[in-house]
Amino acid sequence: MYQVIARKYRPQTFAELIGQEHVRTTLENAIAQNRIAHGYIFSGQRGTGKTTVARILARCLNCVQGPTTTPCGVCSSCLEIAAGNAPDVIEIDAASNRGINEMRELRENVRYRPVRDRYKVFIIDEAHQITSEAFNALLKTLEEPPEWAVFVLCTTEAHKVPTTIASRCQQFSFRSVDFAEVMERMKEICAKEGIEAGAEVLSVLAQAGEGSVRDSLSALDQAIACCGTKLDAAEVRNMLGMFSLDSLGEVTCALSEEDSRRMLDLVMELERNGRNLQHFCRELARYFRNLLVVKVAGPNTRLIAASEMEQARLAEVASGFSEEDLTRYLALTLDLFKDLQFSLQPRLHLEIGLLRLIQAGKLVAIEEALAGLGGGGTSAPKPPPAKKAAPEPSPVRKAAEPSVAPAQPAAEAPAMTGSWRERLHAALLESGMQFTADAVEHSEITEANNELRFVTPEEFSLAMNEKDILKIVQKVAGRPLRVKITLGVPNAAAINGSIAPPQDDVAERALAHPEVRRFQETFPDAQVRVVRNLKE
Ligand SMILES: Nc1ncnc2c1ncn2[C@@H]1O[C@H](COP(=O)(O)OP(=O)(O)OP(=O)(O)O)[C@@H](O)[C@H]1O
Ligand SMILES: [Mg+2]
Ligand SMILES: [Zn+2]
Repeated sequence: MYQVIARKYRPQTFAELIGQEHVRTTLENAIAQNRIAHGYIFSGQRGTGKTTVARILARCLNCVQGPTTTPCGVCSSCLEIAAGNAPDVIEIDAASNRGINEMRELRENVRYRPVRDRYKVFIIDEAHQITSEAFNALLKTLEEPPEWAVFVLCTTEAHKVPTTIASRCQQFSFRSVDFAEVMERMKEICAKEGIEAGAEVLSVLAQAGEGSVRDSLSALDQAIACCGTKLDAAEVRNMLGMFSLDSLGEVTCALSEEDSRRMLDLVMELERNGRNLQHFCRELARYFRNLLVVKVAGPNTRLIAASEMEQARLAEVASGFSEEDLTRYLALTLDLFKDLQFSLQPRLHLEIGLLRLIQAGKLVAIEEALAGLGGGGTSAPKPPPAKKAAPEPSPVRKAAEPSVAPAQPAAEAPAMTGSWRERLHAALLESGMQFTADAVEHSEITEANNELRFVTPEEFSLAMNEKDILKIVQKVAGRPLRVKITLGVPNAAAINGSIAPPQDDVAERALAHPEVRRFQETFPDAQVRVVRNLKE
C-alpha cells in the first residue's frame, strides 16, 4: 500500500529531526539527567514536528535500552511506538475525543501501572479542542500524577490551553522550519525514492510549505502524482498556483519602464493560460516583500524563502527601486489581494491595481512638493508628469446635438441624464461592478434616438466594457436601447458632484493669486472646490 511521504519519513530519532534545536537540546538534557516532567505542551505551527517529537520522547523513555536520548529502534517498544500500537503510549485525538467521559477514562487509565514499559505516555493531539470540563478532569491528574505518567499536549493554539493546565507543564514552542533545511530534507527523500528533482523544483516545494515540513512533503507527494519520477518546475508551479520569478519579473519590468500596455498584456496572458488571478496577486505580494527584504537586509538572508540563485536575482531587481517604492508596491498589492477575494470582476480589479502601481511610482513625495512651494517658486520641483487635467467646465453642452430626433424631446431633459447615472450607478453597485459604477459616475450620459451615449474620461476606459454596459442599461431601462461609449472630456456641468469653480468676484481674485496658481501648477489634478470669503 502506498504510504504518503510525510508519514513514511517521520523522524524516529532526534538526529533525523530538522529545525527545533531548542526543543531537542532541552529534552535531551532532561532525559540524560533523568528529570522528566509529567506534563509538556508542544505548541506551534502545523506540520513542524510536535506529534513527531512526542513520539520520539516516548521512544526515548520506553526503549529497552532507555531512558536514552538515542533509542535503539529495534526493540518491541521502539517498533510499536513507530507503528502507533504500543500498549503504554496512548494517543488521543482531542478533536474527536474532547469530552469529559474521555478524560474520566483517561484518569482511570493513568492510575494503573504501565503494562510493560517504564512510562505511560499520553499524547493528546489538538489539545486546544478539549472542553473546559474535560480540562478540569485532566487538571486533577496533572496535580497529583503517578510517577509513571507523562502527558504531552500538542496544539497549534497554545493560548486556548487554560493557564491552570499550562502552569503545570513545560512549554515548548515549535518554530516554522528554515527554507534551506526543508529543501535539504526533500533532496534526501527524493534521492531515496528515486525521484529526479532539481534545485528549482525543490525550492518551489519548500516555498509552498511556508515553514511547515508536512505541507512541503504533501506538495512533494502531489508533484510526484502529477509529474512522475521526474519533477518539472513549471508544471509543479502551475499545480500549486505559484509563479516563476520570470513571470513576476514582468511586473517589475513594466514598472521600471512605466509601461501600462505591458502590464495589461501580462494580465491577458494570465487569463489566457487559465491562471488564478488571486494566486498571482498573492505571489506578487510575496515577491514585493522579498524584494523589500533583500533591499533592506542584503542578499543571502535567511529572512526569505529563496535559493541563493533566486536571491541574487531578487537583489538585482531590487536595486532598480527605492525602499519607498517597494514599500508602496507591497502595500498596494496587499490591498489589491484583499479586494480580489471579494471581486466579481477579478480581471478588471487586477488590471486597475497593476496600473495603479505604475502611477504610484510616479508620485512625488508630498514633502518635496510642499518644500518647493515654500521656496518662492524658483526651486519648485518638476511637477509630476501631468495626467489628464480635470475636466474643464465647457460653456456649450455637447449633448444638445442638433441631429436629435424631435420625436423624443423628453428623453433629453437634463433631469433624465442625472437619473440615468444614478440608476445605472446603483444597478452596477448591486451587481458588484464597482469600477464600472465609478466610471459611469464620471461619465456624461445622454439619451437620443434609443441610444444611450456615454462620454467617459480616458482614465476610466478600462472599466467601460460595452457588453457589460449594454446589459445593465437594458436591465435598468427595461427596453432595448443601444449604447455608445466615447472617450473624451465629459461636460462637467452634466456630472453630479464635480463642482465647477465658483465664478464670483472673490473667487476670481483668489484663483488669480500667485500662490494659488503655483499650487495648481504643482498639483495639476487638484480642483478648487470652495472659495470662502473670511471677511463675510
Ligand atoms: N521538524 C521536523 N523534522 C523532520 N520532519 C518533520 C518535522 N516536522 C514535521 N515533519 C514531517 O511532517 C510530518 C508531520 O509532522 P507532525 O505530525 O510532527 O506535525 P505536527 O507539528 O504534529 O502538526 P499538526 O499541528 O498538524 O498536528 C512528519 O511525519 C514528518 O514527515
Ligand atoms: Mg500533530
Ligand atoms: Zn528500543
